[in-house]
Amino acid sequence: MKIALIGLGSVGQGLLQILKDKAAYLEETYNFKPEIVAVGTASKGTLYHPDGLDIDDLLKALEARHLRHYPDVYGLTRNWDIPFLIHECNADVLVECSPTNLQDGQPALSYCQVALNSGKHVVMANKGPIAVAYSDLRAQAKNAGKHLLFEGTVMAGTPSIRLAMQALAGCEITEARGIFNGTTNYILTQMEGGMSYADALVRAQQLGYAETDPSADVEGWDAAGKGIILAAALFNKRFTLSEMSVQGITHLTAADIKAASEAGERWKLIVKITPEGGSVKPTRLPMNHPLAGVGGSTNAVTYTTDLLGEVTLVGPGAGRIQTGFALLSDLLEIARNPY
Ligand SMILES: NC(=O)c1ccc[n+]([C@@H]2O[C@H](COP(=O)([O-])OP(=O)(O)OC[C@H]3O[C@@H](n4cnc5c(N)ncnc54)[C@H](OP(=O)(O)O)[C@@H]3O)[C@@H](O)[C@H]2O)c1
Repeated sequence: MKIALIGLGSVGQGLLQILKDKAAYLEETYNFKPEIVAVGTASKGTLYHPDGLDIDDLLKALEARHLRHYPDVYGLTRNWDIPFLIHECNADVLVECSPTNLQDGQPALSYCQVALNSGKHVVMANKGPIAVAYSDLRAQAKNAGKHLLFEGTVMAGTPSIRLAMQALAGCEITEARGIFNGTTNYILTQMEGGMSYADALVRAQQLGYAETDPSADVEGWDAAGKGIILAAALFNKRFTLSEMSVQGITHLTAADIKAASEAGERWKLIVKITPEGGSVKPTRLPMNHPLAGVGGSTNAVTYTTDLLGEVTLVGPGAGRIQTGFALLSDLLEIARNPY
């Protein structure tokens, strides 16, 4: 399988690392032999070699902070524009790992459209295109006879999407409730331990969970984006951010945490999605609720189904290797079912 990989930050490099470390295992176990033929970022240039790029050399070039450090080899093309590169390269799949833009999904949305137009499957960690244009992209992929897979967009490699769409196929899912933001869950867990909101936020930033500008996390927008993706995937519903009721955790005080604890409850930032709509809001859950026991930066989702009742999945919601694995799982699915 030939792969074009756009975005070589934490997640893109995580995938490269996995493909390098597990090459022999993937070939022996799944007869899966991926080749990276094209790569690109916003500021580090692009590379294309129809016979494949060397992953070690790519990782070294990235360590040196620019793809110009990739060695010159016969057949290598440098610095094509990203849309041209996606269109012209001989990849079977575009793996899209550029930054999420929840407003209009760009430029990743255009990258995905170019890939599907030029006969490539699309695999994404980027939430933007799916949150903004899932039904259009899905229709385009269907017309082209190509896969559109996005496991990494919700709960990283913890298979929240695959559980709902494949393992639970045949059950009707009527509601999804989840903890989809590790930063806020970490902060709430620390506050329960007696830390103030401000101190817990600083600690989350020190640990690399929270961005320097943490507003997308603490105000609930990151979680809302994941809710929109689940609503699209589960219910084929297109909600916009402005149609969701979104409340973050910034107003919660130590007194709120204490009051919940005295009542045998715990605050969690819960995303709730039904076919009728979606919300993100801090919610008090009884201690025996499966989502109440999910601490630290861990994520979880509970699907309410007709045949099984509630099914809860708990696992990592971020991380370079964890999200790299989500991409690998989508690539393996394409290798197993080429269409
Ligand atoms: N990190 C996680 O745990 C995680 C989990 C789930 C989903 N995701 C999603 O996965 C995606 C990648 O996350 P990340 O953590 O790897 O981000 P990151 O470390 O910031 O890397 C982003 C990469 O995208 C490149 N890029 C920026 N603008 C671009 C553009 N216009 N066109 C092409 N490439 C562009 C950057 O290149 P330059 O360095 O040249 O700017 C960089 O290589 C995001 O959409 C994120 O929301 C991340």
